[in-house]
Amino acid sequence: MATECEFSKELNAFIDEWKAKPGNLIMILHRVQEEQGYISKEAAMEVADRTGNPLARVYGTMSFYHFFKTIKPGKNKISVCLGTACYLKGGQDLFDEAKSLLGLAATEITTSDGLFSVEPVRCIGCCGLAPVLSVNGDVYGKLTKDQIDGIIAKYR
Ligand code: FES
Repeated sequence: MATECEFSKELNAFIDEWKAKPGNLIMILHRVQEEQGYISKEAAMEVADRTGNPLARVYGTMSFYHFFKTIKPGKNKISVCLGTACYLKGGQDLFDEAKSLLGLAATEITTSDGLFSVEPVRCIGCCGLAPVLSVNGDVYGKLTKDQIDGIIAKYR
């Protein structure tokens, strides 16, 4: 049975094109996440339904590949680098400070107003600027934790 889930015309066409092809699940899940920023329960059910896969298989694929997100990201995505260079220069402090300033508990990623999400990421290729974080792709480097408040304020 079809589920309630709003995919764009393009995404629907992509699913129709790929639904019978081998390796389709990963391709389709990638496109869903690209369009929606994450894969909601409803979207996973829709993909299972449309591709003829059991829902458990769709979730199995999503959890195997850490790339797939099941929680809706905030409007502003704060990615704190915890790669080796950044970690050694205090990346974890930046991460903790960002979460604390936004009132996020240890297990929470997105603020209740949906404005911000904070996630750890692997090396983003700016090790010379360690420690770094990015907000919606804008990179901030050589940071100290007292700068985080000002950075967040720019996106409010
Ligand atoms: S380790 Fe953080 S940018 Fe490379």
